Amino acid sequence: MEIYNLKDKSTASIYTAIEMLKTIKTKPDAIFGLATGSTMVDLYPQLSNLLNVNKVDVSQVRTFNLDEYVGLNAEHTQSYHTYMHERLFQQYEGWNQNNIHIPNGIADDMEHEGEHYEKLLQDIGKPDIQILGIGENGHIGFNEPGTPFDSVTRIVDLTPSTLHANSVHFETEDEVPKQAISMGLSSIMRAKRIILLAFGEKKIDAIQRLAAGNVSEDLPASILHNHPNVEIIVDETIYKAL
Ligand code: GLP
Repeated sequence: MEIYNLKDKSTASIYTAIEMLKTIKTKPDAIFGLATGSTMVDLYPQLSNLLNVNKVDVSQVRTFNLDEYVGLNAEHTQSYHTYMHERLFQQYEGWNQNNIHIPNGIADDMEHEGEHYEKLLQDIGKPDIQILGIGENGHIGFNEPGTPFDSVTRIVDLTPSTLHANSVHFETEDEVPKQAISMGLSSIMRAKRIILLAFGEKKIDAIQRLAAGNVSEDLPASILHNHPNVEIIVDETIYKAL
């Protein structure tokens, strides 16, 4: 695991977008694991811009989002479906809708939806790049502290810390869905390369704990120490606190 200070969110987002562009150029049917949240709001516009100016063929690229809130339909303003389509998939013409995968938060049988998504992931092969953010409590995807390292895609209960952190996107904290469907920690670890982005004061504690090196289910992101190809990209605020 390497930690890089790319100074600010903008530079880090451009770096990550370029790495994704290079991957598509060398492998037109690249597989990406994608994350959402405030951390990624500059990444997808930067990537869309690079795709537009380079007229890249993304028709074969396969994408798999990490998670979705249970109970929010695709059209809900705070669903991760809406997040991804507004910032990435509607910003460039070439995406093939059949190759875009985001867990369904309103499936009739949510348990089956988790199994179905995990099977898709296992059948498709290893993602070339998995993009990750990190929760203030060290979660990745929606794998909260205490999640077993061998977990797969399933329904999870969100912790008070996450409900509070994500309430900024909703009118009231009560509106934040209490559950999500999330790729598991073992699903995430299948990727060939992992780029985790973290910016700002609120993430200092999680990155400090991660950098300390102790591998424990109390800090879900610490599983990344067991992966051979992980970059932790932080801004100056976090880096100078390490
Ligand atoms: C969210 C998402 C994660 C994300 C993390 C950080 O709840 N489920 O995938 O990486 O928490 O979110 P943010 O970037 O908004 O700080």
